Amino acid sequence: MANFPQLRLRRLRRTDSLRRLVRETQVATSDLVYPLFVVEGKDIEQEITSMPGISRFSPDRLSAEVAEVAELDIPAVLLFGIPADKDEVGSAAYHPQGVIQQAIKTIKKTTPELIVITDVCLCEYTSHGHCGVIADGDVDNDQTLPLLARMARSHVEAGADIVAPSDMMDGRVKEIREALDETGFQHIPILSYAAKYASAFYGPFREAAGSAPQFGDRRSYQMDPPNVREALREVEQDIAEGADIIMVKPALAYLDVIRRVYDTFNHPLAAYNVSGEYAMVKAAAQQGWLDERRVVIETLTAIKRAGADIILTYHAKDAARWLQTT
Ligand code: PBG
Repeated sequence: MANFPQLRLRRLRRTDSLRRLVRETQVATSDLVYPLFVVEGKDIEQEITSMPGISRFSPDRLSAEVAEVAELDIPAVLLFGIPADKDEVGSAAYHPQGVIQQAIKTIKKTTPELIVITDVCLCEYTSHGHCGVIADGDVDNDQTLPLLARMARSHVEAGADIVAPSDMMDGRVKEIREALDETGFQHIPILSYAAKYASAFYGPFREAAGSAPQFGDRRSYQMDPPNVREALREVEQDIAEGADIIMVKPALAYLDVIRRVYDTFNHPLAAYNVSGEYAMVKAAAQQGWLDERRVVIETLTAIKRAGADIILTYHAKDAARWLQTT
């Protein structure tokens, strides 16, 4: 076996062309999904303080934003809704004229080719800010399931292409699959947030979506960060219930989880580069402490190298521009 001095690993790093030739992982714009916050009302475009560069749009102001996303060749958006009214059971989530239902229709009119994925979870719609119905001071799993199914069906009726349950109730993929199949939507895929951790990296999102829990936290339904074998069980369960794409979330502190899921299952795998991960990079870049462009491409490449096929990221628009020129 050759060894130094015959073996010199630097030979293939000498020029950019050589490095490109032997590159093992490449992130592409076609891997990216851009999350969008849609707020009920008219003529609203508000920047989110903790997520510089990201705004909330009312449905009537979405067209220009989604046209830009489509123009950049980003294949999909993920929608989050911020309703005008919240109640105990999140009624606005499954109202036919709800904010997301309106948004889907607008997007499908402006950019029919853009894939519309909708987040299915009650936390932005409930007065208490939890992801399901409260009974005896805790989130009641089984009472929540039909509401999630109703929400998913209502998104699909409005024109959503993929539904993405992020609530972490047991059995929700099955419930949603059945509800869609019963109503003629057998062709609509489910992207399940299968391994979603109770993470502090969601902080800026909760400001953006106004979805912080009013009491307690989400640790009785989202996963405990130290666990990885449990993530495999979550994924196994969701696949058994009919999930078409599975997700690990957050991404960066969980690259090992992405890798374990990739090695264990053959389903398409998504990873969510969440709001706190975005905010950290933005904050440091604004201070001039790091090169944002290089950090973002390096990060997205690392998520892909860990095994993700799809990356949901607030950096998608910037990354798409940068990838055109690298
Ligand atoms: C809704 C939901 C959350 C995120 C995606 N869907 C927040 C949460 O679970 O508290 C987080 C996304 C992000 O931080 O970018 N349940």
